Order: sequence, then structure tokens, then C-alpha cells
Amino acid sequence: MSDWIESISAHALEDEQTAVAALLARVAPLEAHDATIRACAHALITNQRAAGAANTIEAFLQSYGLSTHEGIAMMCLAEALLRIPDAATADDLIEDTFATGNWKQHLGQSDSTLVNASTWGLMLTGRVLDLDAGDSLASWFGGLIKRSGEPVIRQALRAGMKFLGSQFVMGETVVDAIKHARDDEKKGYTISYDILGEGARTDAQAEGYVASYLSGIRDIAAASGAVNLFERPGISVKLSALHARYTQTQADRVMAELLPRLKAILRVGRACNIAVSLDAEEANRLELELEIYQNLLEDPEFADFEGIGFVLQAYQKRSVHVAEALCALAIKLKRRIPIRLVKGAYWDSEIKHAQVMGLQGYPVFTRKEYTDVSYLACADILLKNAAVIYPQFATHNALSVASIIAMAEQHGASNNGFEFQRLHGMGESLHDQLVDLSASRTDGGLAPKPLPQAVRSSSYTGPEPSSVLAAQGYRVRIYAPVGAHNDLLAYLIRRLLENGANSSFVHLLMDKNTAIDTLTISPIAHARAHAGAPNALTPLPCNIYGPTRENPLGLDMGYRSLRVPFVAAVCKKFAAQKAPGDMAVKEIAARMKAAHHAFTSWDKTPTTERAAILRRAADLLDSRRAEFIALLINEAKKTYADSISEIREAIDFCRYYANEAERIFVAQTMHGPTGESNVLTLHGRGVFVCISPWNFPLAIFIGQVVAALVCGNAVIAKPAEQTPAIAAATVALLHEAGIPAHALQLACGAGETVGAALVAAPEVAGVCFTGSTMVAKHIARTLANNDGPIVPFIAETGGMNAMIVDSSALLEQACDDIITSAFGSAGQR
Ligand code: FAD
Ligand code: 2OP
Repeated sequence: MSDWIESISAHALEDEQTAVAALLARVAPLEAHDATIRACAHALITNQRAAGAANTIEAFLQSYGLSTHEGIAMMCLAEALLRIPDAATADDLIEDTFATGNWKQHLGQSDSTLVNASTWGLMLTGRVLDLDAGDSLASWFGGLIKRSGEPVIRQALRAGMKFLGSQFVMGETVVDAIKHARDDEKKGYTISYDILGEGARTDAQAEGYVASYLSGIRDIAAASGAVNLFERPGISVKLSALHARYTQTQADRVMAELLPRLKAILRVGRACNIAVSLDAEEANRLELELEIYQNLLEDPEFADFEGIGFVLQAYQKRSVHVAEALCALAIKLKRRIPIRLVKGAYWDSEIKHAQVMGLQGYPVFTRKEYTDVSYLACADILLKNAAVIYPQFATHNALSVASIIAMAEQHGASNNGFEFQRLHGMGESLHDQLVDLSASRTDGGLAPKPLPQAVRSSSYTGPEPSSVLAAQGYRVRIYAPVGAHNDLLAYLIRRLLENGANSSFVHLLMDKNTAIDTLTISPIAHARAHAGAPNALTPLPCNIYGPTRENPLGLDMGYRSLRVPFVAAVCKKFAAQKAPGDMAVKEIAARMKAAHHAFTSWDKTPTTERAAILRRAADLLDSRRAEFIALLINEAKKTYADSISEIREAIDFCRYYANEAERIFVAQTMHGPTGESNVLTLHGRGVFVCISPWNFPLAIFIGQVVAALVCGNAVIAKPAEQTPAIAAATVALLHEAGIPAHALQLACGAGETVGAALVAAPEVAGVCFTGSTMVAKHIARTLANNDGPIVPFIAETGGMNAMIVDSSALLEQACDDIITSAFGSAGQR
């Protein structure tokens, strides 16, 4: 992989304050034009509000936004209802969704007939409009069902959900979509068709998407009269649709199998003079995508094709570096490339993913204003390099549009040197003001352009602008998804999130309580006011468990800056490993005695001290990741990803049990009769035998051991026969952290001999076991036969659980989880 991708990778998870400070320095010159930009934005917004949003999806989601319980319930319904084939399950889902929520409050709250009509009851028959009873919705729903029957409601809701989805789709087939696009084209818009489908899970699926693109491009080309590549319709492709293993860890396969499929699409695109844009997806795929993109640009076959487009997400912290690198690449290759600048559609999943993976930072900004500033900084880079870049500014934010117009003017860009883009079903009232009305595509886009019209709203009250901006006469392209409901879901959810989020411009636009002057405050001013500080509502991944339990650091193999040094460090540790020998059964009696002896003093050690040792062990493990991961890979045959998860879990166990012990082991003074002092204190029980399996040879092993130890017990730990070296290294580490040698002893060997003898020993005060039910039962019987006190037995037994997937489940997600369950951790999850 080239150096340029490496240096981009270094900025992926950059400290937010550093990244924002650098952005603010870049966009500072724009502040001089703030008044002009505000005036232009004010005008655009005023016109948008005047145009109203009756019957638009924006109004609908204004009422049912994500900040309301009902909005979320609706999104769940929209997400699942249409894929349920059977009536009974559909009715269950509907009933579930409507059981709670204050639906009535949405009635009449909007001017939009769509909102009111679709306030569920109103979408049904006149008979069911009676919401006045003031009952809970559950009883209203019950009555409704009685009166109209479930089929009516089901059909009505299905129709409603279909309608919701259809708002974002241009047509079910490319031919349909081309027909529907005619009206937009008459207005002067051009189109980028997106054949819905992403995240292929099988090769057959991926091949199917490729075939649809190949035939789609030909249909689109046949229907277009324009000559200029950038005035012709284009297509947008998601690489995750073209291969089921589009991830960095499968880079070789991606280059060998995905790339040829993409080239086949480009070949037809080139032949038909149809530009192809590579949509941006998750941040951990960006570096692989850049590698693919470079390969395409360097391929002599496409040297004369200017239609290979890249999509740049401004919400990523490294976006300006990507923008600069792409410009440098275009200059080096002496070719012009289209770059669509978006803010990014996967913010929520990026945040969650970084938290789950325990990354040191987020790949995206945590304040919306920073994303907006980054958008401006990227735009500046693209406009500066207009000789090699054809910038495509995709946004529904009037302030971002006004800023771009000002920047374009500063850079002397001509109206056809760049374009704006919007999504089908969104931003119509904004882009209708921008689009070049003369450029009806029926004439091939060659008609003379009118003089730009000056725009300034009469109700504008801000500072006097130094000049007035032209906000008309631009090329505008509509991104037009094509496909059936089954392929729409992921896209639909992103749109619902985008429209429903209360930080979103389109959401605020429709909220009349938000003054226009508020909407036009420069994000640069906001960012300066926050001084680049991260959003406190989004704690860093390491802090999500609160101040007392740090989320262990993880790693995402999609980032080269993390992956390369990590793999190198692990590889260095592969050689030096030595497994300990088995313990002979005859040694056990002496070991047990020693352990029992050690228990007495260990149990007297204050809990805080025992907890501190566990925390020290966690830190030691953290600092010796490479060594332990090498062991996990070598001895347990784990993958890198599974090994990272395992060591994180092991570290977390130590910290968690340390916290729990300190919480639980507090002496409690009891109430009682005068003269008595009753204090309840907790103590260890004696010697615990801990028996663990090979599938999680570090995490389960250490979890059992430290839980028993921190409570004051001594432990004899018997690891699985397959993984003694990991166990030995773990025990050595715990000793180093401060556990007394005899309080923790390792007993390697077969379960039938060493394990059985340990469990049968008279000193055993408790057994902790993870493994099969059969062995657990055997241990339980052995313990029951022991004379003396009843021995506690903690058994976590494995087994094969059925996973029941009903038709409301998202198939892709269910597939991923099933594959993880079946094949993760060498098939032992
Ligand atoms: P705004 O409301 O001004 O901005 C929304 C943006 O702010 C979102 O990116 C959101 O994630 C971000 N944001 C919200 N809260 C925060 C926060 N707390 N911290 C940081 N950022 C925050 N997206 C892709 O990912 N890949 C694509 O290939 C792609 N193609 C597109 C093509 C077109 C033609 C269009 C119009 C959009 C495309 N998008 C794509 C979607 C695009 O990312 C969203 O529509 C866009 O982010 C909305 O931006 P906005 O300027 O319209 O809205
Ligand atoms: C998305 O699929 C539009 O590509 C963008 O959300």
C-alpha cells in the first residue's frame, strides 16, 4: 500500500481538538465573508420555508422525529413490517409497536396533510378516527381491531410504510426510474442512479448487483441526450455490494475479485460515457477504497475516462488529508476526477462501532459544527484544485450551500466547474432555487445560461453583506436510488435517521421554533466557541463504562496506522513460547495443603489491596498485549480479531471484579439490641478449584481465577489441556502483579485425572467450571459425595442453543451473528 494512504491513516483517530484547530486555521479566510453567506443562506431558507413542506417526508419526520418515543417506534415498524410475509407476525409487530406511545399528541400538530393523514388512525377508515376516548393507545388499538379487523389495519400500515420508503426511491427498476426522472430533468436536474444494494453477504448476491449495474448503465445511456459527461446522468456504486468480503483483512481477495467486477462496470460506463461514483461507506473501509481507487486511476484502460468518481465524507477527522491526497494524485496522473463531498451518513454506527471496539478515539467528529467546518475546509481544497477536480457538493444544508457559493466565487469557479447534489426525496425546496432552469436535459444541456439571479431575503436582519451572492444557475444532480423494498432498508434507515435527528439541518429547517438567524450562524463561530473540545455527550470509547472502569483499548484492523505496528509487534513474539508440564496426581495433596495454608493470610489481606493487585494485573496484561496475542494465535489458533477481543475481555474481568469486590466487601454494621455490636463482614471460603476451557483460554481462565482470588480464596487453576502455555503466562503475570505464589497455583493436565483429583480433594471449598454439561454433572456428583461442608459449585456450561430468527429480523444482521456464533473463536463461540 502506498505511503500516501499510510499518512492519511495516521490522522484517522486523531485527537479532536488537534483536528479542529487545524481545520479552523484552514477556514479562517472564509470568516470575512460571513455576512454575505448569512444573507444568502437567509434567503434560501426563507424561500424554503415559504415553499412549505406539505406532503413531504421532511414534515412527516419533523413530527415523528427521533426524539419522540413514537418516532422511534415508527422507524422500527418501517424497518421491519414490509419484510414480514405472514399476517400473524405482522399483526404482532404492529400491536407491539402501538402498545405504548402518545400518538394522539401528533394529530393536528403539523400543517402537512401527510403528517396528519399518516398519524395512523387517519390513514385508516373513517370509522377508526375516533381517538377522543382519551384511552391509552393499547385499548384504542384493541377497539380498533375489533371494529375494523386486523387485515384492514395491516394493509393500511403496510401501505403507509411502503409510501414512506417510496419517498426515497425513484423507481423499482432503472427503466421505471428513468421515466420518473423526466420531470426533474425538465426542471434542469441531472441524475446519479444508485441501484440499491449494499453489504452483499454472498457471491451470488454480489454478482446480481454487478449484472444490474451493467444493464442499468446501458439503459441510462440510451435514454440520455446530453453529450458532456458531467451533464449526463451517472451512477453511484457501493463497493460493499460487489463483494461479500469487502474488508481490509481480506484485501488480497478484494483486489483479486472485487476489483475486476468494478472494472467491468467502469468499462461499460466508459463505453457509454456514464460517470461512476464510488459511494463512501464505513470509515474502516476508506483505506482499502483508496487503494482500489488508485488502482483504477492508474489503469491505462481508463486513462481517458474522467468519470471515475470518489465520495469524500467530511465527518471523518482525516477528510482534509484525503482531499489533499486525492488532488495530489490527480495532479500526478495528469487527470481530472469528480469528487462528491458529503458530510457522511454512518455517524451513529461509527460512534457505536468505535465504542464496541474500544478504539482510542472516534474516526468522526463528535460535534456537528466540526463536521460542517470540515466540509468547508474540504470544499476549499477541492475548489482550489478545480483544474484537476470536478467538485460535487452534496448537501441539503442551505448554510453549507451559501458558503460553497461564496467560496466558489472567491476561487473564481465557473458555474459549470462544479455541481450541487441532493438526494431524491430531500432538499427539493433548496435545490429548486439553485438549479439552472435553462438546462433542461432534453436539449442536451447546451442552452445558453441566464445571468445568475441575485438573492437576498427581504426579512434578513443580519449584518450588511459586502456583496450579494448569486444563488441560481448551477448544475444540480439528484442521487436517485432504484430498487425494491428488500434492498432499500439500510438506505431507508440512514434517511430516517438523517431526517429525524434533531441536529440535522433538514429537521431544524421545518421546525418553526428555530429562527432563521439561528440556522445561519457560522459553524466556524460555533467551533471556535467550543475550542475544538469533544462533545461531552459522546464520551471517548475508553470512558463509556464510567470513571471507575476503563473500557480496554481495542484495535480495528481497517486502520493501517494501527494494524501494521500491531501485527509487527505480535509477530516478534511468536517464537518464544514454552508450555509447562502436567501436574502428577500424587502432587495434588501437597499443593492443596500449601494453598490452604496460603488462603489464611491471603484472606486477611484487605480487599482494597487485593483489588489493587487485580488492577495491576489488568495494566500488565494491557502492556503485554503483543505477547499474549501471539500466544492466543499460536496455541489456541485464534484470529487477530478474536485475540484482541479476548485480551480486552481478560483485562475487563480484572477491573470489573476489583470494583465489585470493593463494592461488596464493605463491612456492614447491623441494627440490634442495645449493648450488642453486630458487624457483617464477608470472607473467602478456602481453596477454589478453577477449571476452564480452551475456547477462551485467557479470558475465561483469568475471569474465574481473579473472581475467586479477589474474594480472599486461594486458587488452584486447571486450564484446558490444549492451552497450558497461555495459562502459565497468565499465572506468572498474576504472581508478578502481587498474588502470593501459593495462593494461586497452576495445575496442568488431563481433566479425567488431574481435574478429577482436584475436585475430589478434601480441602476444596468451591469449584468454578466452564465446559460441557456432562463434565459439570460429573463434578457435581463428585462434590456431593464429599464428606464435610457442602461445596459451592459454579458451573457455566456450554451447549448448542437454537437461534430463532423470525421474519422481522434484518437478514444481513442475523447472518452476521450466526456466522460469528458458528465460526468465531475457531467455531467455539
Ligand atoms: P446537515 O444536517 O448539515 O449535516 C448532517 C451531518 O452532520 C451528517 O453527516 C451527520 O452525521 C453529521 N453530524 C450530526 N451530528 C453530529 C455530531 N454530533 N458530530 C459530528 N457530526 C455530526 N453519505 C455517505 O456516507 N456516503 C455517500 O456516498 C453519500 N452520498 C451522498 C450523495 C448525495 C447526493 C447526498 C446529498 C448525500 C450523500 N450522502 C452520502 C449522505 C450525506 O452524508 C448526508 O445526506 C449528509 O451528511 C447530510 O448532510 P447535510 O449537509 O445535508 O445536513
Ligand atoms: C447512502 O447510501 C446516500 O450513499 C448515501 O446513505
